[in-house]
Order: sequence, then structure tokens, then C-alpha cells
Amino acid sequence: MRPMTSHPHSLSRRRFLAATAAATVVPPRLAKAGPAFPKDFLWGASTSALQIEGAVQEDGRGPSIWDTFASHLGAIADGSSPRQACDHYHRWAGDIALMRQAGFSAYRFSIAWPRVLPEGVGAVNAKGLDFYDRLVDALLAAGIRPMPCLYHWDLPQALQDRGGWMNRDIAGWFADYAAVVAARLGDRVEDWFTLNEPSVSAIFGHAYGEHAPGLSRGRDGVLAALHHQNLAQGQALRALRAADGRFRLGTVLSLQPVVPVSGGEADRAAAIRWDALWNRVSLDGVMRGRLPDILADDLKAWVKPDDLETIRFPLDRLGLNYYSPLAIQYQPGRLYDAGFGPSANPQVTAMGWPVDPRGLGQVLSELRDLYGNPEVLITENGAAYDDRPDAAGRVVDADRIAYFHGHLQVVAAAVAAGCKVKGYLAWSLLDNWEWQCGFARRFGLVYVDYASQRRTPKASFAWYRALIESGRLAS
Ligand code: FCB
Repeated sequence: MRPMTSHPHSLSRRRFLAATAAATVVPPRLAKAGPAFPKDFLWGASTSALQIEGAVQEDGRGPSIWDTFASHLGAIADGSSPRQACDHYHRWAGDIALMRQAGFSAYRFSIAWPRVLPEGVGAVNAKGLDFYDRLVDALLAAGIRPMPCLYHWDLPQALQDRGGWMNRDIAGWFADYAAVVAARLGDRVEDWFTLNEPSVSAIFGHAYGEHAPGLSRGRDGVLAALHHQNLAQGQALRALRAADGRFRLGTVLSLQPVVPVSGGEADRAAAIRWDALWNRVSLDGVMRGRLPDILADDLKAWVKPDDLETIRFPLDRLGLNYYSPLAIQYQPGRLYDAGFGPSANPQVTAMGWPVDPRGLGQVLSELRDLYGNPEVLITENGAAYDDRPDAAGRVVDADRIAYFHGHLQVVAAAVAAGCKVKGYLAWSLLDNWEWQCGFARRFGLVYVDYASQRRTPKASFAWYRALIESGRLAS
């Protein structure tokens, strides 16, 4: 086993803050025309299977852990289920037409593992693969690069029944699934992502009980789920590499600067622990083949010799999801005696997440300066607001435009400062089923009336199209 890392946050907090403050990308004052993006910059949006597809019992799809979780009373805020979602399974052609209308050059979607392998392993469901086959062909015909992500939280229930992410065998199950999908789509798909936000599904699904599979297993649950995701990813990346050497391989992490709510020692120490859990296990695992010192003792139960060799992988690109910094507080009794505290930032979205584009600059500078400046694709960034059509049926979401604008200013500044950001995929194309919030949170560039499934592009859609067309931010 390799030694555990001494990652930046296990330096003295003061030295770390001084180092990152100096390196952080700060948006320059905008020239009138606004900054321009490189000509080959990729533009598009991301979605995920469970949040948009619906048709959960169609064409042989097996149940996922989210179908089960959503059936529990009180698990989903508005009592809804992903059964229909945006009915994208039937409306995909119209949705691709919307992407084309917006001028997208790339689109990240996820493949539902239970559609392809209803039992998680074994028999392949041809009809499930056919769906993604059609989708990929139609995207290519529209001039849009398909960028599938193999796992966006919808684990086959059959695998959960065998322990899910708590069972080390999942590494092999996931690699086999990756190989099945690559064998079918790999002649046309070059860009692949493995996991989406492993720390979120580990923490919320295995300790907080707020996401599927709804477990409350504390440290053990989180560390097992995190380590096994790292391991599964390492094996799947190798399976994909073996399938075709030309694939461009990546993973998707939610990297969020962790900010203690006060300068007090207890809050600062809690923030360091949270940073290790939320950001570093996944990031240092894949990029450095190391795990945070601070979690070393607890991880011993799960990490076997040679695991770190499997986990480390030379990614072609890193998918970065960024929404906001995390305000962390010492909360005894919570996971690692840390919990989400009040943010000092008064500006929040409908999720209650602070609007702070500077955090994105901080993450990008850190990747440049401390992680070897990898190629980065922003795979998610966006905001929920309480959108409503006006009397004329228009959805004027000025707050979302401001959110995108602020974050893209930072992206442009980061590119100018040498960060290798190659594209931006907004979250999300459509309003959709937002996990435990159900339909109560709208993130789309396109408004969805769930009763009629009518799609109405919002003002942000027109704004985004103009940006993509001109390649520059208006001042
Ligand atoms: C991210 C998830 C995505 C969506 C956005 C709002 O954490 O990856 O599915 O829920 O948050």
C-alpha cells in the first residue's frame, strides 16, 4: 500500500489559505465586449437518466435503488417518483432538437445500468441498449458529441440486495457493465465518464439516509461506498481503455471548497475533515493514487494492498461539477463531527446553495497548481429558481442568467490564466426530477410542464444560444 497523502488541507490551515488565495483565479474587469472563449470550446448541458427518462418499467428495465427509495413514505419532499420524470425515453428526438436549436456541441447524459443489465450482472437487455444506440446516432446526426456517464446514482436494486456499494465485488460488476456498454456504443462514442459525484452518493446515501439506498451507516457506510466506487472506477477505466485505446476517459467529481463557518479551532478542524471526505478521497485517489492522511486509520478496514494502484488512473479529462462552496461547522455527533452550517453569503438559490463563482475559480486554480493542470470539462453548473411562466407563457429567469454569467466570467478568467478548461455543460437542459426534492426544484434551460410534458425554452435558453453562437460573454 502506498503512503497516505499529505494533501493541501492537511498543511497548516493558514499556510493552505495563503497559498490558495495567492493562486485563485480572479475575474478581470470586463472589457465592453466581454471575454471570448476558445474556438474549440465545447458547449452543452448535462442530464441524468433517472432524472429525465421515465419509462422505468418499459422495455425490460429493472428497478433501481431510486425507484425503491422513492416508494418509501416521506423520502421525497413532494411525494413524487421518477416514474415519468420528463418522459425523455419517448421524447428524446424533440429534446435533441432543442439541443440543436441551442447550438450545443456536446451533451452529457447517463446510461441507466438497470436498463442495460436489469439484474446488474448477467443477461443483457438488448432493448435497453437500443435506446442509447438511437440516442447516440441522433446526437451525432445533429452534430453533438455524445458524452455518456456510466453511473449517475441509479444502481440496479438487484445489486443493492447484494450489498451495493458496501460490497467490494461491485468493482467487478461495474467493470463488466462498462465493457458491455462500450462494446455496443464504442464504435461511435469517444468520450466516456465513469461515475457521477461519488462523495455525494456515498455521504447522502450511506450515512445521511437522504438519498438512495437510504442507509444510515455512519463512517463505515461512507468510507466503504467511497472506496468501492474508487475501486470500481479504476477497474472500469481499465476495461474501457482495453476496449478501445482511442477513448477519451474521465470521471465526474463534485469539488467544492470547504469553508469553516468561523475561525475557531473546532470549526476549522471539522472543515479539514469534511474536505478530506467530500473532495480528497475521490480526487487524490484517481489523480495521485493516495488517500487523505486524516482518514487513513478509518480507511484501513477497506483498503487492501494494491488497491491504490488500481484506483490511480491517467484520466484524459476530469469532469468538474461545481455549484457552491460548502460552509462547514463543528457538529458533535454528526458524521465526522462536522455538518453544514450557515453560509455568510446572503445570496442563495432555491436549493439554499450560496451563489459564489469565486469558489469555482479556487477549484480550477487548485487543479492547475496542485494536481498537474489536468484537462477539465465543467460537467455541471447551474441553479434552481422558482420559475413560473408569465401571462404570455414566457419564463423570464434573469436570476439563472446572472448565475451562469457570473460563473462563466470565472471560467473565461481561468482559461486566460492557463487552466485547461475545454468546455462547459450547464445543469441542466430540462427541469427534471431533482432526487429527494422531487419536482419541486427547477434547474432547466427549458421549462417542463410535467402534466402535459410541454417544453418551453426559458430566457436563459435564448441567452445561452446567443453566447454559444458568438463565443463570448456579453458585458
Ligand atoms: C448534482 C447532481 C445532479 C443534480 C444537481 C443539481 O449534485 O449530479 O444530478 O441533482 O446536483
